Parts: sequence; C-alpha cells; structure tokens
Amino acid sequence: MKREELERIDREYREKPPEELLAWAASAFKGRAVFASSLGLEDQVLTRMLADIDPAFPMFTLDTGRLFQETYDVLSTTREQLGVRLEILFPKREEVEAMVNEHGPNLFYESVEKRKLCCGVRKVAPLTRRLKGLSAWITGLRREQSVTRTDLKHVEWDEVNGLVKINPLADWHIDEVWAYIKKKSVPYNRLHAKGFPSIGCAPCTRAVKEGQDIRAGRWWWENPEYRECGLHER
Ligand code: ADX
Ligand code: SF4
Repeated sequence: MKREELERIDREYREKPPEELLAWAASAFKGRAVFASSLGLEDQVLTRMLADIDPAFPMFTLDTGRLFQETYDVLSTTREQLGVRLEILFPKREEVEAMVNEHGPNLFYESVEKRKLCCGVRKVAPLTRRLKGLSAWITGLRREQSVTRTDLKHVEWDEVNGLVKINPLADWHIDEVWAYIKKKSVPYNRLHAKGFPSIGCAPCTRAVKEGQDIRAGRWWWENPEYRECGLHER
C-alpha cells in the first residue's frame, strides 16, 4: 500500500468511530493482519470491538514471563467471556537464560541499556517474529499516553517492522475508554482500580499518585523520554 493511500485512509477514518476502522482493517488485510494486546484498558476495548466484527480475528499477547498475576487473570477471563482466541507468545528460552545468567534476573534496574536488552529479548523479538510476513498490525496506542506518542496517526507506516500500523484509539481520551468499558461490561485488569493506569511487567510497573502522568509508574526510575520498551520505535 502506497504512502499517499495510507494518508488518505488515515484522514478518512480519523473522523469515524474505531469500529469502522477495525472493520476496514479486517476486510482489507484479511488473514494478513493481527492485533497486539497487552490486556491494558485500551486493548480490552479493541478486543471487545473485534469480537463483534470477527471473533476469529488473529490476536496475541506477549507473555514476558514477568507479568502480574492480575494480568494472567484478565487474560483468562477475556478468552472465556469474549470468546476470542487470544494467542500467548513467549520469548526464546535460550535467549532469556543467556541474559539472566549473564546479568542477573533484575538487570533492568541497573541501566537503560540492560532494561532495553530485557525488553528486546522478552517483548521485541517475539513481536518481530509474529509480525514477520504480515501486512498490518493493530495496537491500542493513544496520543495522550506519552510525550513519545503525541504525533500518532490512526493509520501509519511502521518503518521498523515494515508493515501498516493501525491505532484505532489514537485520539480517544481516557474517559472515553472507561465509558466504553463500563457500558459494555468489558473485563479489565483489577490493578486499574488500584492506581495502575498503565500496566506492563510487574518489576517495571508501579501505582501512580493522583494527578501524576498515566505512564509515570512505568520504568519510573528512568527519564520520560526513554520510557518505551521498543515495541513502538519510530
Ligand atoms: S509499552 O511499549 O509501554 O509496553 P503500552 O503498555 O503502552 O506499551 O501498550 C501500547 C500498545 O502496545 C498496546 O495497546 C498493545 O497494542 C501493544 N503491547 C504492549 N505490550 C504488549 C504485550 N505484552 N503484548 C502484546 N502487545 C503489547
Ligand atoms: Fe524486562 Fe521490565 Fe521490559 Fe518486562 S518491562 S521486558 S521485565 S525490562
């Protein structure tokens, strides 16, 4: 798909509800698109929407091996209640073993480089393997989530992975996300009600205080501009 064509589609769907963009993606990239879910609030919204459009739409979550029990609980409930086949992907055992034996199990606290190494082995490499050969992927990214995401489009070219990236909730406000979750009784991670607006791996996520940035609890010991795990390098 040409760049101008993507820009045109981005402009067109910017004005429409996310369900329409998802329906377009499901038909335009039939069998060649996948949805990446972290089981966060936004991803639960998209899972619910996709379950209506096509419950067999391919979707996956990256199990880093370091997730919260609450995340496994919502993964299990989502598969049961929404009737979707949410694939669970693991990192390569040899890579994890080599890394933790060389640097220790808590390497991420030691430096940005070691933290990125861990995200690379546990998240980015399995993502890259899963996206290989596909034409498009769908994410739950929103602009207001971070200083690194302010120019996010609904439909864009993912230079790093070489395929189309679709972000149906790019311009949604967090209040819209919650309103949808409540209205449709979508299952969600109970940590969200305990001060965790954004949830990643357990050792790298903590609760935020009232009024703090929504991603302040992610890799909180690093500067905000480093706080991306590499899944969304642009
Ligand atoms: S991260 O880069 O900081 O980890 P974030 O938690 O904000 O990302 O999630 C943004 C989007 O990245 C999610 O909506 C989802 O599409 C994708 N994503 C993040 N973590 C995972 C995961 N563990 N498995 C699958 N997709 C993920
Ligand atoms: Fe490793 Fe933390 Fe990245 Fe998870 S978020 S992959 S534990 S560095």
